[in-house]
Amino acid sequence: MARHIDIHTHPQQALEAASAILSGGFPVAIPTETVYGLAADATNPAAITRIYETKGRPRFNPLICHMADVEMAQSYAEFDDLSLALAKAFWPGPLTLVLPLKDGSAIHPLATAGLDTVGIRIPQGFAGDLIKAFGKPLAAPSANSSGKISPTSASHVEDDLGEKVKLILDAGSAGVGVESTIVKVEPDGRLRLLRPGGLASQDIERVTGKKLLRAATASPAIEAPGMLASHYAPGATVRLHATSVEAGEAVITFGTIPPLPGQDKAKAVLNLSPSADLAEAAANLFGYLKLADASGADSIAVTAIPQHGLGEAINDRLARAAAPRS
Ligand code: TXA
Ligand code: MG
Repeated sequence: MARHIDIHTHPQQALEAASAILSGGFPVAIPTETVYGLAADATNPAAITRIYETKGRPRFNPLICHMADVEMAQSYAEFDDLSLALAKAFWPGPLTLVLPLKDGSAIHPLATAGLDTVGIRIPQGFAGDLIKAFGKPLAAPSANSSGKISPTSASHVEDDLGEKVKLILDAGSAGVGVESTIVKVEPDGRLRLLRPGGLASQDIERVTGKKLLRAATASPAIEAPGMLASHYAPGATVRLHATSVEAGEAVITFGTIPPLPGQDKAKAVLNLSPSADLAEAAANLFGYLKLADASGADSIAVTAIPQHGLGEAINDRLARAAAPRS
């Protein structure tokens, strides 16, 4: 079991213990507003290697580098005007910008998988304080074994990686609950959505006055984050757009829909948001998938979720959870 420190009751102890482990080149599980991250010094190759090893993550899948503020980000990456406007509108927050690396940037190539771009995010709250105290960017993927559901609580991290990490910082439930939205401004000024996430596409389009391009055209191997095949996979299979519950299934619903045929026999019945609030549904999604999985169901039936706002990210994660397993 990892050491746990509650950042609300022991913030100073959390900062000091985490900084010491990070300085030694080891990862620490940290809370962010989206999901818990497995963070390590983005300039230290041994530390980054430990992230990939701990997660069992393929090394061609680059990591997001977390910064304390825009000034810090600008010392590692080149900002065009549109990216800077997005940074100012939405940071700190659930937005990752893919930007060209600055010449001589200290971000280690292992963190970017050798690309000439870097994914940067400024997280809200404690994670930002930790980066400020540590003084260097933190590479941090979600703190789960590769291919598994991302953790939205310290106990999720403990269950999956507790034997492999030294320290888990606990801030309770992650408020957003799905990973950041990843956006890239192309050299010609077009705006590309690389991954829907905790910042709604409509908010980005409203601030920029530009339409987000969704089709992955160039280098899909790298720019289809999270990978198209099975990902975010619970142990049970996942069945989408369910209108009934089959024998042996758990069911996840949304809003005020009447009970589905067969629902009375479900292994578990979970409603992502009885009031049909998509932000609440996003915050509950990963935890409920884990609960449904733990109910002993061999399949999880999920009713339709609206596609607008955070529904885009919810449906993206559900589609990956339901994708055929390799
Ligand atoms: O909310 C989040 O984004 C969480 C928290 C911990 O910050 N992090 C997260 O990291 O979801 P991860 O590693 O699970 O997802 C990062 C995704 C990868 O799938 C990768 O493909 C994409 O970001 N990515 C990172 N750098 C990139 C780059 N230079 N170009 C294109 N995609 C990049
Ligand atoms: Mg992940």
